[in-house]
Amino acid sequence: MDKIGRTAARLPFNCSDQTNPTWRERAELCAELVQSLALSPGRVFSLADIGCGDRKLRDALRHRGLNCRYDGYDLLPQSPEITRFDLRSDVLPRIYDVVVLLGVIEYLEKVETVFAALAAQAPWLVLSHVIRQDDHYTAARRAELGWRNHFTEAELARTLEGNGLAVVRRGLTSDRRTLLAVCRSLRFAEEPAEARA
Ligand SMILES: C[S@@+](CC[C@H](N)C(=O)[O-])C[C@H]1O[C@@H](n2cnc3c(N)ncnc32)[C@H](O)[C@@H]1O
Repeated sequence: MDKIGRTAARLPFNCSDQTNPTWRERAELCAELVQSLALSPGRVFSLADIGCGDRKLRDALRHRGLNCRYDGYDLLPQSPEITRFDLRSDVLPRIYDVVVLLGVIEYLEKVETVFAALAAQAPWLVLSHVIRQDDHYTAARRAELGWRNHFTEAELARTLEGNGLAVVRRGLTSDRRTLLAVCRSLRFAEEPAEARA
């Protein structure tokens, strides 16, 4: 509330908090994990950031000097360079080396369907999730945040694996609440390199 009692309008999907340092830390950890994959040495790799928000992952990748074609997608694009995209129904227009979902799966109703669809579209998926490990996020708080999912790490790994995605690497933010999982698709059929150009 400001000095004359007006309440600031909340942006959907908690994007009013998008300058929060914890969101930046999540993007930086993601960039570190992507770098650790050493994708396609000798050529530019491609990355689709779905639910990209204000594209802080793009900045984090640039700061690491990664040679990457970055494309931002979002249901509610925050700039004209971002492609409008609904993860629940749309299919990516090209093949990417890696797809990223940061702070997105909490809001998805049918997360299994989304995982299965993405497993067929890219060899690598990196995603974040605020893991359930104690009573920190009560049902009332989750409702306030608009979250539909709050998995334990084991539940998330099982759901990913059941839909063709094996968790091969992981990281945690410094508050130890947000998991970053790097998944290898077991269902992605490799295309010739020219299809990715
Ligand atoms: C919590 S924000 C995270 C933004 C960004 N990834 C970050 O870490 O700063 C969630 C984002 O997911 C987007 N989103 C929510 N549902 C989506 C959907 N079905 N398809 C695509 N994007 C979606 C929202 O518009 C929002 O930008």
